Amino acid sequence: VRIADELDAAEKTFADAGISTARADAEWIAATALSMRRSALHATLDGEPPNGFSERFAKLVARRARREPLAYVVGTVNFRGLELEVGAGCLVPRSETETTAERAIARARERTSGRATIVDVGTGCGAIALSCAAEVPDARIFATEAHGAARGWALRNLARTGLRCTLLPGDLMSPLHPALGGVVDVVVSNPPYVPEPEWAALEPEVRRFEPKEAIVGGPTGLEIIAELSEQSRMWLAPGGWLILEIAADQGEQVRNMLRFLGFLESVVSQDMTGRDRVVEARWMG
Ligand SMILES: C[S@@+](CC[C@H](N)C(=O)[O-])C[C@H]1O[C@@H](n2cnc3c(N)ncnc32)[C@H](O)[C@@H]1O
Repeated sequence: VRIADELDAAEKTFADAGISTARADAEWIAATALSMRRSALHATLDGEPPNGFSERFAKLVARRARREPLAYVVGTVNFRGLELEVGAGCLVPRSETETTAERAIARARERTSGRATIVDVGTGCGAIALSCAAEVPDARIFATEAHGAARGWALRNLARTGLRCTLLPGDLMSPLHPALGGVVDVVVSNPPYVPEPEWAALEPEVRRFEPKEAIVGGPTGLEIIAELSEQSRMWLAPGGWLILEIAADQGEQVRNMLRFLGFLESVVSQDMTGRDRVVEARWMG
């Protein structure tokens, strides 16, 4: 048996399980079981599997075939060049959230003197906060997270990357020290924004494995966005930015709500597939 044969069998198992990315997933998992990069895999395909590979590979393939997210199975995900650990209890950072992080980084860099202060609300595994730490190295960064399991992953990623950011447990912006009132340059969040009625129709990877509290934002999906937007006004500096990831059909409603709350200059950016994804609004104080 060659590695290529085991790979073909895994691809078929995944296709039978309804996974549309069957070949790519089989390759990622084989590379993980071989402790090598996926780009190095093709050179090994005609060889015999090394000792222990078949058992390791079979266990990982069985997990993915039950529709566990690929990132949980391989244990890491790439986010803006950072390799972050993920697993049960935290949302897998999505590629569209790289756009959210990019907008926060761009706004933080607009500050011309002193250090920018950035708050990432609901940091999950730390993806947005750690990207800001990597790409705006002199910024002061705080990350809040209400759920202990997700905080565990954020802590691992803080240690793994060696980047600097203060992780605070608790609800939305409430864990921030009062001294930060009126001085935050950027509040950024990828909050839970899926309407409750849509939960049942999500893919098995999401419904069966990812934490519901990371995804569902209430009956309309806008409840947490509204609460966070209201709270952020106390913390933002005059001229500071609130940056929110949203669902593609929420742009209009969220911009109206922000205008009603007194924010100015709201703009919507699209992700790489051209769908509305990020709302930015300026707080004039
Ligand atoms: C959509 S996930 C985003 C995670 C991460 N920022 C990312 O983009 O990959 C939302 C996160 O907010 C957290 N969360 C939900 N409600 C919260 C609240 N009231 N206060 C703080 N964090 C909350 C969830 O546990 C979850 O980690």
